[in-house]
Amino acid sequence: MTSSAYAADDCGDGEVIIKFSHVVAAQGHPKGEMATALANRINTEMDGKACMQVFPSSQLFDDNKVMEALLLGDVQLAAPSLSKFESYTLKYRVFDLPFLFSNMDAVTTFTKGDKGQELLGAMSDYGFVGLGYVFNGLKQFSADKPLLVPSDAKGLKFRVQTSDVAVAMIEAMGANAQKLAFKEVYGALQTGVVDGQENTWSNIYTQKFFEVQDGTTETNHQLLTYLAVTSQEWLDSLEPDVRDQFVTIFNEVADEYNARSTQINEDNKKKIEETGAVVRQLTPEQRDEWVETMKPVWDKFRDDIGQDVIDAAVLDET
Ligand code: LMR
Repeated sequence: MTSSAYAADDCGDGEVIIKFSHVVAAQGHPKGEMATALANRINTEMDGKACMQVFPSSQLFDDNKVMEALLLGDVQLAAPSLSKFESYTLKYRVFDLPFLFSNMDAVTTFTKGDKGQELLGAMSDYGFVGLGYVFNGLKQFSADKPLLVPSDAKGLKFRVQTSDVAVAMIEAMGANAQKLAFKEVYGALQTGVVDGQENTWSNIYTQKFFEVQDGTTETNHQLLTYLAVTSQEWLDSLEPDVRDQFVTIFNEVADEYNARSTQINEDNKKKIEETGAVVRQLTPEQRDEWVETMKPVWDKFRDDIGQDVIDAAVLDET
């Protein structure tokens, strides 16, 4: 047991060690809190059989390196954003389509439905298996100047995740996109390497992005959600009773925290407002402008995703 693991547990002889590496804050964050709760349940209910150690805040790996680490057996569980799997599958681009999901209930319906469940296996050719989805929420834009309509962003540079859909979305606004690892965002905003960013309230608050921006605009333009991913080889290596109990506990904890994710983000939004930082709301007309500007992005990625997958997501939304 290293002292850096957040959910500390002394792993006993004979226990399966499950290292869970992620990049966000351990507290006040839907994924961070879910990871801790998962470890607490595994370490209590599977004592003697399995032991989970959680490594938050990119302290072990960032989201690119963690995929390799899963295959090498250096960690057993990760939960990168669905925007970060483009080297393995283009199907997850559906989750990035701007203004596709208007709330997390629509995301629940889609992810629990046939297509959502089928997509858990989209990376099987690479030896990865999705255990399930872990929710964050909808994203907001911030910049070093006020953003009320997309043309306010013209010429600015925004940090994006490693997602070509995000790049296309930023370019549709007449702005420039720069892909950067999560842990580099605060510094890049502070030093002016980028002018703005887009993320959920929980990431904007826990990473303090709002401190180095003019304000944040509640655009709710795109989803940020995660895939809890492991290596098929590791999962298959578990004794059936250990695997079943692990998967059952995972599903229960994911459901519990997914149902809480909207509230956790709302709490973070309130905390930002309480600091006196500016949070801007859009009028219906301004919101229509954002939706219209980003519409062409859908056509660009339709073939990669598959019309059947898009139809299922749109249907679940209506
Ligand atoms: C990001 O890079 O902005 C997010 O994927 C980080 C996270 O895990 O929420």
